[in-house]
Amino acid sequence: MEMDLQGKHILLGVTGSIAAYKSVLILRHLVQAGAQVTVVMTSSAQQFIAPLTFQILSHRPVFTSLFDPSDEIRHLTLAEQVDLILIAPATANIIGKIANGIADDLLTTLAVASSSPIVIAPAMDGDMWTHPVLQRNLSVLDGLGVHVVSPEEGPLASGKEGMGRLALESRIVAAVLSRLRKREDLKGETVLVTAGPTREPIDPVRHITNRSSGKMGYALARAAQGRGARVILISGPTHLPAPPKVERISVQSAEEMREAVLRCWSEVTVLMMAAAVADYRPRRRSDQKLKKDHEPLFLELEPTPDILSEVRSRRGHRILIGFAAETEDVLSRARSKLEQKGLDLIVANDVTQEGAGFDLDTNIVTIIDANGEAMALPKLSKAEVAERILDRIKELKSRLGTGSRPIH
Ligand code: PMT
Repeated sequence: MEMDLQGKHILLGVTGSIAAYKSVLILRHLVQAGAQVTVVMTSSAQQFIAPLTFQILSHRPVFTSLFDPSDEIRHLTLAEQVDLILIAPATANIIGKIANGIADDLLTTLAVASSSPIVIAPAMDGDMWTHPVLQRNLSVLDGLGVHVVSPEEGPLASGKEGMGRLALESRIVAAVLSRLRKREDLKGETVLVTAGPTREPIDPVRHITNRSSGKMGYALARAAQGRGARVILISGPTHLPAPPKVERISVQSAEEMREAVLRCWSEVTVLMMAAAVADYRPRRRSDQKLKKDHEPLFLELEPTPDILSEVRSRRGHRILIGFAAETEDVLSRARSKLEQKGLDLIVANDVTQEGAGFDLDTNIVTIIDANGEAMALPKLSKAEVAERILDRIKELKSRLGTGSRPIH
């Protein structure tokens, strides 16, 4: 690992846990690996360990306050300068604050102001670790792309045994290295992601849609941006905020999504269609609200344009990834979609499984390649599923060489 972090600027956040003394060892590892490390401590952390220890070992000033007359916008300057924020140990308190956007000191303000990747290593008592509120906050952070280095089991400060001990320094430093290594591996690519549902209008107040929340597609967009790609996100209607540094185009219907994909096409090198595009739409859209008259109402539906099939004929060297949300014969249906649509990979989700599919923070998928080989993944956060899909894209690209440039 010697000097693997040369040229990297890491912000090490230390919070108020008995494990705060272990951050000294983490700091030493990071510095030995060549990183420039700026330490930010919360006021509770200073109850456990003095800033001077970190100052001497990092050879840099340690920041403890949001308010410094000599630097009015410290939180913004630091947030922009760093390649990664590592919070170790991370208490239940800081996890709750970041998950809920509370910025009431320097470290929390930095965490919500920065678009750099964040790695956190929780440390706390076992009962706090298993508390549903803490687990919910962790799943929020996970959904936002924060990497959580899970704690370990063993004797705790309370005298009890359980989960909650800070992970070993070697695991924490390895997580930092892997997050930073991935950061650039899609540099030069323009990744187009579609996400969310489409809405097919019936009349001015009604439409046909589905249960897609956009979470899977947004996780892909965030992950690809985090790995250095330029990302265009074509999104059906969702409540999700646009991920930082991603170019979002909002659309409503399948036709609008198709037009947006075709408009961007010349710039794209990788397409990931995670959107649940409606397969059918009303043949006619009524200009006026349909009136209720106690008679059955028949809607005539027509197929929507199939976006993947349409771009297939102009794919050039682009990589095409589709998704399949299925409720039966999942793998065989996914395989036939892969073939029909000429895809490099298809990501099949059995949406009847608990923890998979629509509107959840987790997914259970099988990634199938063009040779029909299937890789089944366990239940993972959508952020982690996105990383696994990007790893497969990376593999495909190295196999195809530099050929995956757009053909105009
Ligand atoms: O958004 P979330 O709540 O996080 O849920 C995620 C998800 C379940 C929506 C996602 O993981 C998923 O499976 N997306 C694809 C769902 C789907 O409807 O697949 P399909 O089997 O209908 O379509 C197969 C592929 O063709 C998809 O990549 C789809 O985007 C594409 N397609 C479909 C119809 C159409 N007219 N044009 C298309 O290009």
